[in-house]
Amino acid sequence: MKLLVTGGAGYIGSHTCVAAFAAGHEITVLDNLCNSSPEALERVERICGKKPRLVVGDIGDRACVRALLDAEKFDATIHFAGLKAVGESVEKPWEYYENNIAGTLVLLDELRRHGVFNFVFSSSATVYGNPDPANLPLREDAPLAALSPYGATKLWLEEMMRAMAKADPRWHFMLLRYFNPVGAHESGLIGEDPGGIPNNLMPYITQVAVGRLKELTIFGRDYPTPDGTCVRDYIHVCDLAEGHVAALAKVADLPGCTAINLGTGCGTSVAQLVASFEKATGRPLPHRYGERRPGDAAACWADATKARELLGWVAKRDCDAMCRDAWRYQSMNPDGYRRG
Ligand code: NAD
Ligand code: UD1
Repeated sequence: MKLLVTGGAGYIGSHTCVAAFAAGHEITVLDNLCNSSPEALERVERICGKKPRLVVGDIGDRACVRALLDAEKFDATIHFAGLKAVGESVEKPWEYYENNIAGTLVLLDELRRHGVFNFVFSSSATVYGNPDPANLPLREDAPLAALSPYGATKLWLEEMMRAMAKADPRWHFMLLRYFNPVGAHESGLIGEDPGGIPNNLMPYITQVAVGRLKELTIFGRDYPTPDGTCVRDYIHVCDLAEGHVAALAKVADLPGCTAINLGTGCGTSVAQLVASFEKATGRPLPHRYGERRPGDAAACWADATKARELLGWVAKRDCDAMCRDAWRYQSMNPDGYRRG
């Protein structure tokens, strides 16, 4: 297929480029590089022997999107482009609504004008809000809620795509709800490159391990979970990338709007992840226990049955592989893509 991949220079996008090349697809990336480096695509070339075409531009820039779609006929879009930091979205809600919602409106409008109706969307487990423990593992029909402007942008876009699919049978939307993507490509060449001090657990851990940060604080040890620390469904980014390839293989056969969880179906606690990481590096990871982080759910993991049944996809890599690969990337690139 000829693919338009928005946000393809980012963390999940670059890994998906590798998986999509392996499946024989052609790729054009549209990315404004607001949270990524073109170096990521150079690295994709080192892994795959070919590089996606990069168009540096914004999904909300109608003239840019139109020129791109006038020039090339795509079979499908994978839409990663978006801002994704929950805390930042609370401080800058307008920027999140504008970038994620207004940008996607422009993109979708130009796609329909150009007859490109296969659309794979990066949604998130954040649309389940703070899940009721009675609903675990989370099925796609669990109640939805937004707890932050970021979450609201995902939920709102999902709602809009459901309505658009109902109104126009030409649309084929796949809403892929990612759980907690971590890890890196096994080559160590591409991985997560967060600017500043990371908020998410795995990049924080790897930066402690590499000596950029002093110690990890585990937020809370009094949750109603087996070891008292929060439980999440960590998924290796390469499994996630392969989930996109599986979705592309089915999107043309699935009209309407289909929400699918991409997770392993297994919960892992923060303490267990730290232990896996220590095993991967063979060294203790400096950490201490602190207060709960406000707003954190005690536990959240996926029911991954629908992905298996509909896409024939299951996550294959375990927590040890996630930690080993995250560590390899971080140690080969201690300053992200800036040096390494
Ligand atoms: P990322 O920041 O690494 O990648 C996003 C990419 O989109 C970046 O390259 C950025 O430069 C680009 N971008 C942002 N706004 C743009 C715009 N207006 N026009 C063009 N390009 C733009 O993030 P990621 O972790 O790879 O996430 C990709 C998608 O998956 C996002 O939509 C995110 O919300 C979603 N998601 C991520 C996670 C996660 O934990 N990483 C979890 C669930 C969902
Ligand atoms: C976060 C986002 C969520 C997004 C998901 C995808 C928030 C509030 N939510 O979820 O919208 O879909 O990423 O990756 O940001 N932890 C520590 N110490 C740290 C950092 C984290 O103990 O320094 C713990 C947290 O309390 C949590 C777990 O690690 O229990 C995972 O945290 P994080 O990586 O931030 O992901 P989520 O909060 O699950």
